[in-house]
Amino acid sequence: MGLKIGAIASGGGSNLQSILDACNEGRIDGEVVVVLSDNHDAFALERAKKAGIPAVVVALDPREGREEHDRKVVAALKEHGADTVALAGYMLMVTKVLLDAFPQRVINIHPALLPSFPGLHVQQAAIDYGAKFSGCTVHFVDEGMDSGPIVIQAVVPIRDDDTAQTLGARILREEHRIYPQALQYLAEGRLEISGRRVLLKPASPGSGALHNPSVKY
Ligand code: GRF
Repeated sequence: MGLKIGAIASGGGSNLQSILDACNEGRIDGEVVVVLSDNHDAFALERAKKAGIPAVVVALDPREGREEHDRKVVAALKEHGADTVALAGYMLMVTKVLLDAFPQRVINIHPALLPSFPGLHVQQAAIDYGAKFSGCTVHFVDEGMDSGPIVIQAVVPIRDDDTAQTLGARILREEHRIYPQALQYLAEGRLEISGRRVLLKPASPGSGALHNPSVKY
């Protein structure tokens, strides 16, 4: 059975789009069952609607705590049958309430090579630091800030004339590659968390035969 992905995005949702495209093209064995946002204006919601996927806003009510907010998020995810949560440009920290509801099933993409440059504005931070390479990281989410076990990273060079925008665009291209790939590894049951490390189990060897047309095991 494929992944039932609940995606959560606060902004433009280009990573969401890369996941939607990968599901449609069979590069992820799964489907996006709901898109959530804390932001009414998130373009990610438009992308969901265009794809015929339920788009739900769970705005942060300043009178309620973060855990209370996450209880609503969990309820919406479960209502739509999600079994996996893909954070895609979600600007809020998640709490134990969400993590406990989807154990080892909450995953995020970050536009830097963790553990360097967690947090926000990290493209500029990498340039200002004088780093020669940056990149992106797909990781499982824990209660810390961008601190969970790393699934995949991609590295890109930082050029002397880079701005946060040019570097960000170079990184984003790689994000759109590694995020769907990480979700596919999850779909295939190939990710094993061992302490801080995420080990990639070998693909099913199958029978050794070539199938034409291709066959899914
Ligand atoms: C990406 O850079 C992602 O790594 C970060 O937020 C940004 C979201 O971009 N977490 P988009 O909304 O997916 O285009």
